[in-house]
Amino acid sequence: MIRFEHITKKYDGAVILDDVSFAVKPGERLSLIGPGGCGKTTVLKLLLGLERPNKGNAYLFDTDMSHASESEKQLVCRRTGMAFQQGGLFDFMTVRENLLFAMEHMTQKTAEEMDNTMQRLLAGVKLAGTAAMFPHELSGGMKRRIGIARALCTEPELAIFDEPTAGLDPVTSTIILQMIGELSGAHQKTSMLVASSNVEIAIRFADRLLILHEGKVEADGPWRELLLNGTEWVRNFLSVRLIGLDIEYALGLDLPKPFIAKHWHNAAKL
Ligand SMILES: Nc1ncnc2c1ncn2[C@@H]1O[C@H](COP(=O)(O)OP(=O)(O)OP(=O)(O)O)[C@@H](O)[C@H]1O
Ligand SMILES: [Mg+2]
Repeated sequence: MIRFEHITKKYDGAVILDDVSFAVKPGERLSLIGPGGCGKTTVLKLLLGLERPNKGNAYLFDTDMSHASESEKQLVCRRTGMAFQQGGLFDFMTVRENLLFAMEHMTQKTAEEMDNTMQRLLAGVKLAGTAAMFPHELSGGMKRRIGIARALCTEPELAIFDEPTAGLDPVTSTIILQMIGELSGAHQKTSMLVASSNVEIAIRFADRLLILHEGKVEADGPWRELLLNGTEWVRNFLSVRLIGLDIEYALGLDLPKPFIAKHWHNAAKL
């Protein structure tokens, strides 16, 4: 579904991605993480053909997005739902029009089907009453939720979310994660890629983590495995972001027992 082969990307001579390779299979979920500015959004842009690599190839549905024509790229992007870091809704369209526009351009749905899908997804993101509103009438968190509804309304084979919860309060973040989980549950075959600098979000979203650091793939694997047996940098990167959590909450994340025992000294009582 996604194949990144030996991608190198430079901006103004600075190497942002240095020989990065990874693959995502149909139906698979992957969280792409790493410190701020490590190149997560750049990976997504290369994948969608919005940027070209200096070296290597980025394949999406077996199309080489690094060298495809605009029309080839469009065909592939129609099979992909994308929610950008900044929401990316059209400001001059209502919520309803934003969703219909996506479905009209990317699906063969009839008007009635489009209407049903829109109602279902707006209800799914708990914003059923907003169809006639414009983006400027919505809060940041509401726009994110609409962005997610729009990414999924075309029932894509692949859904990509860039920082779906950044800057949102914990309650809204949890709602958004649940939405993505539930809505995608309706289409089991949808592959999903979430880019986030929030480790907690990343591990709640997917078992598999791809960690970028200084231009390289620092780790790629199941997060519990990386937390216990990754390189020192990986263990440190993951653990410093998890050990501040409330113990009850940490247990809910199903963190590995040896990790809990080491970092929560009162864990034995629970
Ligand atoms: N169009 C561009 N021109 C020049 N430099 C760029 C451009 N886009 C990104 N960069 C640089 O590339 C690096 C990676 O940026 P990118 O947005 O991919 O990081 P990120 O991991 O998504 O960061 P964040 O966690 O803040 O979202 C940054 O140093 C950024 O300044
Ligand atoms: Mg980014």
